[in-house]
Formats: sequence, structure tokens, C-alpha cells
Amino acid sequence: MVIEQHHDYASLSRSAAALVRDEITKKPDGLFGFATGSTPIGLYQQLIKYHQNGDLSFDQLTTVNLDEYIGLPENHPQSYAYFMHHHLFGHVNLPKDSIHFPKPSGDSSTFDGLIQRKGGIDVQILGLGSNGHIGFNEPGSPFNSRTRIVDLASSTIRDNARFFDQIEDVPRQAVTVGIHTIMSARKVLLIANGAEKSDAVYRCLKGPQTEDVPGSCLQSHPDLTVILDHDAASRLPANGHH
Ligand code: F6R
Repeated sequence: MVIEQHHDYASLSRSAAALVRDEITKKPDGLFGFATGSTPIGLYQQLIKYHQNGDLSFDQLTTVNLDEYIGLPENHPQSYAYFMHHHLFGHVNLPKDSIHFPKPSGDSSTFDGLIQRKGGIDVQILGLGSNGHIGFNEPGSPFNSRTRIVDLASSTIRDNARFFDQIEDVPRQAVTVGIHTIMSARKVLLIANGAEKSDAVYRCLKGPQTEDVPGSCLQSHPDLTVILDHDAASRLPANGHH
């Protein structure tokens, strides 16, 4: 496990983007797993800059997203399909049919099947819920879980209410890739910023590995890079600063 601590969000985002750019450059036709939420927005802005400068192409890439709400139409501003289009996919040369989101319809094992057929995820980008969730694998999710429909934890509904007019509008369910799906990725990049994540970061990286803290599974991942800002890292023993 490699842990980087950065003095601020801009520096965290630049470092995460450089890592993703290098990985795409190494494997331009790879399968990359993307996350939504506030945390990766700076990383995506930087990837768009690389693309605009001619330093990065997405034309051969295939993407899978971690999760999607159930019950929001695709063009709803809070749907994760809309989010990815708005923050990244709509600004780069990624072919539309190379973009994949888990879908509630049909057999959810189809999504894991798709990932397998494409040779597995090369790099999985992850944010971290303040309750330790990864994807929408809430506390209690089995470590051997695959893509499936889940109920959102009430703490997640509260955390995400900031994006909706009122808390009642936050969907109660989502489709998420499983913990096993995430752990099967060859490389995992976990990013977190802000003091409200410091407890979850500590419990994921230094606490006991338990299904009560879904992100704690990552301690066993053979190729994990964690990129944090100072506040999110504040409960960890001192590490290298950038
Ligand atoms: C998003 C996802 C979630 C978020 C997490 C943190 O696709 O899977 O696990 O990464 O909820 O969200 P933010 O970044 O908004 O704090």
C-alpha cells in the first residue's frame, strides 16, 4: 500500500490525475473503473486538461462505473450517468459505446460478466463514504459481494442530500459493483479529502478488516495507492507530505 498525503485538494487531484494518465498511457485499450461524487471532480478536471493539451486520449479505452441510483432517469442531473457526462465523458474522446454503468434490469451478474469478458478492471478509482463505504457497498456488505441492488444506508442518504432539493428526493436504492468486483481490479486508487473523511480513512487503512467497514477490505489489495489531503489523513500516523 502506498499512501500519499497532500497539503490540499488541488495537489491531491493533480497527483491522482497523473497516476491515471500514466496508467491509460501504459494501456490505452484498458478497462478503467470510474467513481462519481465530489472527491474525483478535481481529478477529472485535470484529465480533461491533459486531453485538451493532446497528452491523453480516451479513444481506445473502455469504462465501467461503480454504481448508479435506482429510480432516476439517465438524464436526471443527479444520475451518475449524467454526472460522468458532465464532469468527464462529455469533454474527452471516449466513444459512447465504451461507457458502461451497472443497470438494475436483468441479471446483475451480467455486469461482472462484462468486466470478465473485457479482461478485468485495470485501474479502479474509488472515493470513500464517511461510513467507510466503497461504491455503494454499505457497512455489512459481504467481502465476496458482486454487482447487485442495495439499499442505501441512512447516513449515505443524509450525506448525499446536499445534491438534491430535499432529502426525500434522494433515491433509497442503487446498483453497485460488489466488494469482490472492486478487489479483483489489478490496481486500486483510493482518494479522499476533508476532515469528515478522516475517521473513515483511519478505519479503512489502520483498523481491523471487517465487513462493518467495507473499505477495510482494501488493506489486502496487492496494488493499492491512497491519495489524501492533509485533513483526510489527519488521524493517520505521520507519512510523507507532498
Ligand atoms: C460514487 C461512490 C461513492 C462515493 C462516496 C464518496 O460512485 O461510489 O462510494 O465515492 O460516497 O462521495 P463523495 O466523493 O461525494 O464524498
